[in-house]
Amino acid sequence: MVVLDRPRAATARRSLLRWYRRRSRALPWRKSKSPYAVWLSEVMLQQTQIETVIPFYRRFVREFPTVERLARAPLERVLELWSGLGYYRRARNLHRAAQELVEKHGGQFPREMKLARSLPGVGDYTARAVLSIAYDQPYAVLDGNVARVMARLLALRGNLHQPRFRRRIEGHLELLLSRRRPGNFNQALMELGQTICLPRSPLCTFCPLKFWCQGFQSNNPEHFPEPRPRRQTEDWHMAAAVLFKNHRFLLFRGLDDGLLEDLWNFPSALGPSSSEALARLKKKLLSLQGVTPSLSQQGHKLRHNITFRSIQVHVYIGPFTLRAPKGEFRWLRPESIEKSAVSQLARKIAAMVAGSTK
Ligand code: ADE
Repeated sequence: MVVLDRPRAATARRSLLRWYRRRSRALPWRKSKSPYAVWLSEVMLQQTQIETVIPFYRRFVREFPTVERLARAPLERVLELWSGLGYYRRARNLHRAAQELVEKHGGQFPREMKLARSLPGVGDYTARAVLSIAYDQPYAVLDGNVARVMARLLALRGNLHQPRFRRRIEGHLELLLSRRRPGNFNQALMELGQTICLPRSPLCTFCPLKFWCQGFQSNNPEHFPEPRPRRQTEDWHMAAAVLFKNHRFLLFRGLDDGLLEDLWNFPSALGPSSSEALARLKKKLLSLQGVTPSLSQQGHKLRHNITFRSIQVHVYIGPFTLRAPKGEFRWLRPESIEKSAVSQLARKIAAMVAGSTK
């Protein structure tokens, strides 16, 4: 059976674009097609839900309305505005790329694929998204939502990690891509995946592609694509020390084991059990200080997930009586935590122990 030939692709494309013109959400970065707005939104939207991104995006452009303003800002301020959004490497790269744009490209996001790809943090996906949405260049964008829509349209099992599946999807996406409105086309497919072609219980009645969709016609669209094998969750323990002096907490840059490298955290150590985590924490404090402060537990515990790790966090409290510690550290008042680049985990811990450290 011919799944999608040229004439069928043309009618499906028209239906999709009409739906997008009428139904697309008025997201803040869609108001202008400024390459900066598109680039920033695409970076924020990587691995992050639209609803989460919107307030961060608004705050960010209010403070850095142009590439030049972003390039001139201290990295610490960029990280502060990013804090809560996760994947902080994105913020570092964005800042470095803004500086490169100002130094080498007159503050303009390049129109050429090769130059766009040379910017820090701009991979194939981001370059295609920015060039198609901001400059209407005919690049198709393939993310998880688009892959689901296409897999159902073509009744393809498999998942994006399989090269054969990916190639087939890319081939059909090229055929379907609108050369006149590639930006709207890409956003339409993403939006369809987010609002109609849902992973579970898709709303096929409202779908502009249902007449062309093999998944819909099979009566079992959820059968496509194949679920991606998920990394098993691992159980971990963590010991974290709340050390205070003059109503301020001692925080270090980074958490442990390469996690949350850019953010401020309570000194912490991971371990397979609570006792091993505590032993590692003491060792860490010893190397930072030369002395282990006396720690008391007071029963503070919480659970926190970081990617595939489910972490039982044991919080220890101690006064800090020693001289300046080694490493990148700072003293922070509890009320300053909100406006600093402090991890979500440290915020949870600070809220939990409030009262015990007065
Ligand atoms: N996800 C990533 N980029 C997007 C966009 N431009 N619109 C909607 N969802 C997206």
